[in-house]
Amino acid sequence: MTGDWDDLTARIRACVLCKDLVASRNTVVPGEPGMFTRRLAVVGEAPGAQEDAAGRPFVGLSGQLLDQLLADAGLARHETAVLSAIKCRPPGNRTPRAAEVDNCRPWLAAQLDLLNPRLIVALGLTAATWFLGPRTTLAGVRGVVHEVDGRSVVATYHPSAAIRFGPNGKPLAALRDDLALAARLLGDAL
Ligand code: URA
Repeated sequence: MTGDWDDLTARIRACVLCKDLVASRNTVVPGEPGMFTRRLAVVGEAPGAQEDAAGRPFVGLSGQLLDQLLADAGLARHETAVLSAIKCRPPGNRTPRAAEVDNCRPWLAAQLDLLNPRLIVALGLTAATWFLGPRTTLAGVRGVVHEVDGRSVVATYHPSAAIRFGPNGKPLAALRDDLALAARLLGDAL
């Protein structure tokens, strides 16, 4: 697995399909498989400024909150694969364009084929739409498990929404509930 993962990662790092993103990126952020102890993968949207600088996923403010929320749910970050729908930072953190998500789709699909997670948590609308299709709303799909092409997917809010709406906002509470659901599902499956 490790050799295959490293090989796939090298191919992702060399991707030049999205000309705008290639021109503005500092690094490509393929994602990290973690120890993958419970075969959980989380999928975010796209690298932000700090991820683009470090070449690592979820290392900025959203990442710090994600780490905390995973730990609170009993799901350690270092045991979890941390991936994203697109691997290069959109300038100014704009939402990725549909064409960019389409270009990058085979990379995430290949990562999921290789890792074969028991459960995927999609963080935010871009990731949720990646799995559940274009008419997805987070309020409409969160809180339950979806079966998508033989994979189990829980879709929930992105940690950046939890930061934006604050400690008493709905996204933080929903994220906590949905990660607790993920932990229960993984516990049941062990
Ligand atoms: N948001 C994401 O979706 N992914 C990251 O790596 C960082 C922020």
